[in-house]
Amino acid sequence: MGSANRLKLGLFGANCSSGRAVTAVPERWSGSWLDCVWLARVADQAGIEFMLPIGRWKGYGGDTDYQGETWETVTWACGLLAKTERLTVFGTVHAPLIPPLIAAKEFVTADHIGEGRFGLNIVCGWNEGEFEMFGATLRDHEARYDYAQEWLDIIKLAWSPHENFDFAGQFFTLKGVRAKPKPYGETLPLIMNAGASATGRAFAIRNCDALFSTISRGISFEETAGHISSVRALARQTGREIDVYTVGVVTCRPTAREAQDYYRHAIVDDADWAAVDNILAMKNITLQMYSLEEFQHIRDHQANGMGGLPLVGDPDSVARGLARLAALGLKGIAVSFVNYLDELPYFCAEVLPRLAGLRDNHATGRPGSF
Ligand SMILES: Cc1cc2nc3c(=O)[nH]c(=O)nc-3n(C[C@H](O)[C@H](O)[C@H](O)COP(=O)(O)O)c2cc1C
Repeated sequence: MGSANRLKLGLFGANCSSGRAVTAVPERWSGSWLDCVWLARVADQAGIEFMLPIGRWKGYGGDTDYQGETWETVTWACGLLAKTERLTVFGTVHAPLIPPLIAAKEFVTADHIGEGRFGLNIVCGWNEGEFEMFGATLRDHEARYDYAQEWLDIIKLAWSPHENFDFAGQFFTLKGVRAKPKPYGETLPLIMNAGASATGRAFAIRNCDALFSTISRGISFEETAGHISSVRALARQTGREIDVYTVGVVTCRPTAREAQDYYRHAIVDDADWAAVDNILAMKNITLQMYSLEEFQHIRDHQANGMGGLPLVGDPDSVARGLARLAALGLKGIAVSFVNYLDELPYFCAEVLPRLAGLRDNHATGRPGSF
């Protein structure tokens, strides 16, 4: 991602209605195409480095049909890349749902539209209900990553200077493959993955430029620092470099009291609890497995940005939180807001200038040029 900023910032989940906030407040994110375009342009001008969409095909129900409206992410990325200048836009792609050569071609198309700014987030899938919509079978956990490995090997071959190649693997047998043009310029699209299991992490270490890891409930900052250095050390053992990113949820207001009040209003009093419970049930998280207090804590965390790290407070405390994450060794964070467009300008105006040393390139804006 092009900027020299030490801590990269991205926006996560704007391609879905309600984004990452499981709330019924009327100002929740629409996810409409025009709102996405405006958001991308504001982010581009403010020097935000990337937008990361969610590969989501089916809403979670509840009172709002949470994430019921979603844009397919590669075409969404193409549109936003065409309307921006600096931003990296990812596509989030379920490897088992699309043949690798069509995928490789789509990614090259997006990469040329963005003049090298397309990124790929590979996901293997976890949600059986979504796979059933495609008539696809969700493989067992380890096999999902074996499949993704072949899928990605083929994509990288298609991107390589090879004129023709054959491929014979466990899942694919391809003959006389030609794929032109190649990715834009001298670089390949950035590749990321968010595997949480040992197998998922190993996949990222073998193949990706970035691993996204959630800092979950109960995991300390010290453990996070240990995780980051072990991922990077494992990559180096194989001659690779990998960056570790995380996911956050920002509620930033002029005072701590205002931030906490809004958080309570949007994410507690007006949460879409029916949707929260649907999400947890899909992940087999039930009250029977936890004490009432623990279960409520998990529900709260899910309502506020699907489990990302909450950053709730005034600009000083949100900036301190971000600086602390950078000090742990994180390369960046993908954040969400209840309404990205309403909240991003304040965040950029008040929080970014407080990140001295981490984001000195924030002032790229040319106000009014769009
Ligand atoms: C930042 C981030 C983004 C993710 N995006 C998606 C997504 O868009 N679609 C999806 O099905 N899974 C997504 N996941 C889930 C992961 O791809 C992965 O399945 C999950 O972290 C479990 O890890 P595992 O496969 O190693 O068990 C995401 C996870 C994170 C932390």
